[in-house]
Amino acid sequence: MTLGRIIAVLGVIAAILLALLFVVYPDLSWILPVAAAAEAKPIDDLFRLMLAVSVVLFVGVQGLLIYFVWIFRLKPDEPEDAVGSSLHGDNRLEISWTVLPALFLVVLTILSLRAMDDLGLRPGLGEREIGVEARQFAWTFNHPETGIVESGRLTLELGVPVTLAIGAVDVNHAFWVPEFRVKQDATPGFTRYITITPTKTHREVGYDDPTRPGFPLRCAEFCGIGHSAMLARVLVLDSAEYARWEAEAIAQAAESPGRAIYVAQGCGGCHALEAIGAVGVVGPTHNNLAEIAGQRVNDAGYTGTAQTAQDYLKESIRTPGAYVVPGFGNVMQAYGPDSISDEELDQLVDWLLDPRP
Ligand code: CUA
Repeated sequence: MTLGRIIAVLGVIAAILLALLFVVYPDLSWILPVAAAAEAKPIDDLFRLMLAVSVVLFVGVQGLLIYFVWIFRLKPDEPEDAVGSSLHGDNRLEISWTVLPALFLVVLTILSLRAMDDLGLRPGLGEREIGVEARQFAWTFNHPETGIVESGRLTLELGVPVTLAIGAVDVNHAFWVPEFRVKQDATPGFTRYITITPTKTHREVGYDDPTRPGFPLRCAEFCGIGHSAMLARVLVLDSAEYARWEAEAIAQAAESPGRAIYVAQGCGGCHALEAIGAVGVVGPTHNNLAEIAGQRVNDAGYTGTAQTAQDYLKESIRTPGAYVVPGFGNVMQAYGPDSISDEELDQLVDWLLDPRP
């Protein structure tokens, strides 16, 4: 077969693969998670373009490689030390394989900059703004219009664009929900923005496990010992469900301030507590704390100064290193009066000793 024919055959193979990519499977769900936000489209379009160019390059390079290995093999009638004719460059080839990829990169840069414009990386683009605070190792979400604070769980309304104002209190983290595509850094001292317009509810996509509903939100920046456990869920509700959730959340915060503080501080990111469905494993459990804390202060190995269960819990929040529960690391940040006031600390501890949902 001549080189011309081989190129024609490779062209047909590439064309078939491109037809599969653009015509038969145009949604990328065979290779990417389901797209569940309007902002996923510019990302997916770029991904598809790069995939198409990669397909053409891959078929061309691998096809010619195999062809040349075959036609320049040692023929049976040649001596074993036969030497092939040597070539010394080809200016047209050299120039074209330098200029063409460079041009493609320029085009890709322009398209990427345009796509970034569609991602809502500036404040004020959404209908609502939600504060996102990352800390080792929990996510807290703040709805300033209603005063609702969520932790470990972010509730969004279907079809309503929200701008997330993302910050961090300790080290670098990153906000990432693969179904929304866009990833954003959470950097101490900075506020960074992304806008998300959910186009599918979590149930539509199959994240309807009653114990852990919602799109998985993960931290995408290695941030310490609990990084892999720094997970949260994003619930996308239709308008009626969202209105109901909002009313309930407002009522609940007014009824139980201790619970609201626990949620706002993101304690459930690291600790388990059945009453609110928290399943953190970085720190010791918060179930049965009344009993555990009462016994702890009398334990032989106890190194703190507290005498009562209340004091023990306060000490564990203000000075976590005073006593480190066996089996866990001394990794918790101290919560001083600037993050939890003395009055709030009383409310929080009262609720921890008798946590109600
Ligand atoms: Cu936070 Cu990794």
